[in-house]
Amino acid sequence: MSLRQFMSLRNLTRALSAVKEGVTHGWVETARALGIEEDLYANPLHRPLDRPVRVILIGAGHRGSIYAGFALRFPNEMRVLAVADSNLKRLNRLADAHELPPESRHENWESALASPGQADAVIIATPDNLHTAPCLRALELGYDVLLEKPIAPTEAECRQILEKAKSTGRIVGVCHVLRYTPYFREIKALLDKRLIGEIISIQHLEPIEHVHMSHSYVRGLWRNSKRATPIILAKSCHDTDIIRWLVGEHADNVHCFGNLKWFTGANAPPGSTPRCTDGCSVEHECPYSALQIYLRDRKRLYVFDLPEDTTLWDAVILEGLKTSDYGRCVYRMDNDQPDHLTVNILFRNGITAAFSMEAFVSYEGRRTRIMGSLGDITGDMESFTLTTFKDGRRNSWSMKTDAHGGGDHPMVRDWVQAVGQRNPALLSSTIDESVESHLMAFAAERSRLMRTIEDVRI
Ligand SMILES: NC(=O)c1ccc[n+]([C@@H]2O[C@H](COP(=O)([O-])OP(=O)(O)OC[C@H]3O[C@@H](n4cnc5c(N)ncnc54)[C@H](O)[C@@H]3O)[C@@H](O)[C@H]2O)c1
Repeated sequence: MSLRQFMSLRNLTRALSAVKEGVTHGWVETARALGIEEDLYANPLHRPLDRPVRVILIGAGHRGSIYAGFALRFPNEMRVLAVADSNLKRLNRLADAHELPPESRHENWESALASPGQADAVIIATPDNLHTAPCLRALELGYDVLLEKPIAPTEAECRQILEKAKSTGRIVGVCHVLRYTPYFREIKALLDKRLIGEIISIQHLEPIEHVHMSHSYVRGLWRNSKRATPIILAKSCHDTDIIRWLVGEHADNVHCFGNLKWFTGANAPPGSTPRCTDGCSVEHECPYSALQIYLRDRKRLYVFDLPEDTTLWDAVILEGLKTSDYGRCVYRMDNDQPDHLTVNILFRNGITAAFSMEAFVSYEGRRTRIMGSLGDITGDMESFTLTTFKDGRRNSWSMKTDAHGGGDHPMVRDWVQAVGQRNPALLSSTIDESVESHLMAFAAERSRLMRTIEDVRI
């Protein structure tokens, strides 16, 4: 029995067992426990490909490894033919996993993208400020592209990539993974069936979680908006995209407030030191102690490129804390990203959305409230409840997933299918709509900096 068939039995079983008020908690988990295959959100337009889509991977870091992992799980659908990374450890680790010969291991993207016809498509998972050049080159060479978000750090570059995608006629998918999560797919389907009538407004919360904030946006690669991209783009273009997708209409205006309130030198506690390893006298009580997060709790270790031999880990992590940014005091960095912001969006059809990005929370997982003319939806990324006003009936849905809501590999599959079938219509997240979500983010950043209400310049 497939998961889809199993789920279709829900109503019958519910009636038989008089489950209270149509609550469906745990159906997917129950089905999985029974060993029923996971095809609930399979796209009926997907079909077996004549041969795997052959890709060149640019950037073998955290995200690149996840996308390349799709090829290891589903070798009939995708094959990695070559990889580029300037970090030799990462380059060789990934190339070894995919059994690539020396001539397919490139130390920079230029060498991997030197000539056309070497593969079908290119995945670009380099740092934010290194998306535009490899993307334009790949398109010029005739490759389709899967491009990490943000598309590019400036509005002009985003438009340049859009133009190039149009003029070359190639497929460009953008890694807006939230669109592929079962949670948002289910909500979108219910909205499209108008089960809460017309959407009136949306409240959307992105809780970054305080340690995640410190790791990526205070100590990490995205801490400085000029060297990476403003956080509304780096982190929240997923959210502008998902809100825009749920509403299904162009945004006209945005307004944003936000600032860096806590992670600044002024808040460095007395007794703290430039590094947590320098004998900081408040290290044991600080929630951002690098010794606690990385060494004792062993969290977010992918940035240390650890060896296979786990007995060496303590020494490698400690050395990393003494030499890399991940050991520095969160109050003494060169960070400028806001640690809280709110955005108001007015859509063309009068729908409004209020979006908040918050660092100082103990949890992750987007929170959703959608207000409709006939009902509402409230949710937390793992479950949601739809209530209809007329009869007060509540229906709930729940599913446990990974940190990205289970969207990573379904997104790669959509793109692989679009490339393999030469049909960009298979992509949920097309370059046109993705650029629009970025234009909303650029407008919000202009508003934040200039204290204005900004037009979204579509
Ligand atoms: N879709 C999402 O949800 C999501 C989540 C996190 C990050 N991202 C985005 O993904 C991208 C990559 O992020 P990451 O976390 O994987 O970073 P990462 O640092 O782990 O990986 C980037 C890799 O690019 C390599 N690189 C740098 N310069 C290079 C060059 N000239 N040629 C080839 N390789 C080069 C680096 O050595 C590194 O291994 C970023 O743009 C980031 O904003 C997206």
